Amino acid sequence: MSDTPVKITVKNNGSLRVEGGTFEIYDAEGKMFSLAGRTAVSICRCGHSQKQPFCDGSHAACDFKSEVKAFDLPPK
Ligand code: FES
Repeated sequence: MSDTPVKITVKNNGSLRVEGGTFEIYDAEGKMFSLAGRTAVSICRCGHSQKQPFCDGSHAACDFKSEVKAFDLPPK
């Protein structure tokens, strides 16, 4: 396993960009998605991608709007 932390960037009006380190993505039944060697992927936030859970650029056509700024979660 890599010690490099996985970086997830919330893209304004778009996807979650996942990159760095080592990561795996599974469906609800525990089956792993093959990323075909990709070291970075974009995860859909808008719900309109035809390739869920991955972004296919559809957020632009549906005019998805979501701009976020980092904040601190309250203690658990
Ligand atoms: S965020 Fe890109 S298709 Fe949904």
